[in-house]
Formats: sequence, C-alpha cells, structure tokens
Amino acid sequence: MKGLKGKTAIITGSGRKGGIGEAIAMALAKHGCNVVISDIGEPKGKEFSKDHVGTSSEMRQIVREINKLKKGKATAIPCDVRNEKAVSDMLKKTVKKFGSMDIMVNNAGVGYIMEPFTEFKEKSWNAVLDVNLKGAFLCSKHGAIQMQKQGKGGSIINIASQAAKSGFPFAAAYTASKHGMIGLTRSNAVELGKDKIRVNAVCPNHITTGLGHWQNKFFSEKLGLNYDDYLQGIKDKNPLGRTGLVQDIANAVCFLASDHASYITGEAMNVSGGEEYH
Ligand SMILES: NC(=O)c1ccc[n+]([C@@H]2O[C@H](COP(=O)([O-])OP(=O)(O)OC[C@H]3O[C@@H](n4cnc5c(N)ncnc54)[C@H](O)[C@@H]3O)[C@@H](O)[C@H]2O)c1
Repeated sequence: MKGLKGKTAIITGSGRKGGIGEAIAMALAKHGCNVVISDIGEPKGKEFSKDHVGTSSEMRQIVREINKLKKGKATAIPCDVRNEKAVSDMLKKTVKKFGSMDIMVNNAGVGYIMEPFTEFKEKSWNAVLDVNLKGAFLCSKHGAIQMQKQGKGGSIINIASQAAKSGFPFAAAYTASKHGMIGLTRSNAVELGKDKIRVNAVCPNHITTGLGHWQNKFFSEKLGLNYDDYLQGIKDKNPLGRTGLVQDIANAVCFLASDHASYITGEAMNVSGGEEYH
C-alpha cells in the first residue's frame, strides 16, 4: 500500500487479543507504520469489567508480536478515551516516541451494554456514548491538532458499524453512537479537508471477536436459538455466505489510510459481504 511506510498510527481499543484493533495494528505495521497499541488497559467498574476490556498484559503481548515481525515498530500506551487529558497525553507520548502522528483509528467501542429501550439506564447510555462517540470526538480532535501542526495532512478512520446504517433491538445507545460517528466523520471531513486531513468510517457487520461472541450469546438467547444456529442464520442472510473477519476490516483501514485513497473523504464504507449497502 502506497504511503504507509514510516507513518505513525494510533489504534484505540487495540489491546484485546482477537479484536479488530489488534488486526488493524498488525496490518498497518506490516505495511511499515509505527503503531501505538492503545486501550483502557484495566477493568474499571461494572461497565468495563475484565470480561470486556483489553488488559495491559494483552497490550504488551500484542506489542511483542508486532515487534517480532521486524516491520513497523509498536509501543503500548494505555488511554481511557473518555478522558480528554489522557487522550492529549497519549498524543504527546506518541510524538515523543515516533516523531509524528499521521493516522488515528478510532476503534475503541462498547457493544455489550444492551437493554430493552424502555428500561435503558442513564448510566448504561452514558457508558456507551462516552466511549463510542465522545471517545472518537476527543481522539479525532487531538489527532487533528497534531496533524495540523505537522502540516502534511493525515487520515482519521472511525470504526463504526452496520449499526451506523440500520437499527437493532436492545441497542439504542450503540446504534445512536454509531450513527453519531458517521455524523462526526462527515462533519470533520468537510472541515478538515483544507488541511489535507481525510476522515472516513468503516462499517463492519458481524465478526466473532470477544465482543462479537458476547453479542452472539446475547441475541441467540433472546431469540431462543442455540448459538450455532443463530450464527448460521447470520451467514445464511449474507450475500457472500459468511461472517466478517478482523482481517477484512484491517484491509479496508489500510486502504483508506494509504495514498490509494487520497481522493476519498467523508465516506462510510460498508465491509459487510453485501449485507448492508447504503
Ligand atoms: N465485532 C463486531 O461484530 C463488530 C461489528 C461492527 C463494529 N464493531 C466495532 O469494532 C470495534 C472493535 O470491536 P471488537 O469487536 O474488536 O471488540 P473488542 O472488545 O475486541 O474491542 C473493543 C476495545 O475497546 C476497548 N475499550 C472499551 N472502553 C474503552 C475506553 N474507555 N478507553 C479505551 N478503550 C476502550 C476495549 O478494552 C476493547 O479492547 C468497536 O468499536 C465495535 O463497536 C465490531
């Protein structure tokens, strides 16, 4: 991929083994980018329990695996994307370590807080919106400040979802946050284009990551189906007959971050095997 070698990328929420963020970091590093493995790093309260978050030992493991490839270099910088000071410090540490920051991938996300709409708790709503939308806002803001300072443009990529295009039951907060990410993408693309900063979103459908596995369990139980039948149902309604792979998303991110996408901004690209097409 043209234009990736020597660039620096931050991938939020990339500290969980088997996750989309890990795959994106690995793929960008294979193309010669220096990558920051960023994640919350430790459980925090009921909404961010150890079953759902990337830990600092997983982050270190991912860094070791990437550095073993001897392509782009990796480092771990824990950051809770809900906290502006933490985000601004992450940017400073990144620039100190690698000398620049060119690609911001907003991948951190909470997709495991699902409640019937009329019972949806304010605390749950805030937990989802604070990570998925406010987190993307803060990282885009501080990423753009750094890119403007460097004066060479840059790329911001928001990992949204099929839930940015369609509605899902029990997922009002998730769906609203992901639709919001598309609004953020379009607004920032229009405003930051003058600085040659391109802003795009990628919209995956189902991928069985740690989060995807939790969702399979949740929805199969709600529908009274066994896990495998539920998953087969997802594959059956997909034009390409399968679910997504983390590598599918990583490939799309590498393309959007590269010079091959130099005339693409404000886009919300479906990577869904044809299941979502608007
Ligand atoms: N798996 C899917 O089917 C699917 C589909 C569409 C979109 N997505 C989106 O892709 C992204 C990655 O999801 P995944 O499936 O790889 O799940 P994942 O659980 O592996 O990744 C989410 C990461 O976000 C991190 N995170 C949560 N709160 C955070 C915070 N406050 N600060 C920093 N990091 C925080 C978690 O620790 C975790 O590592 C998410 O934004 C998700 O909404 C996933």
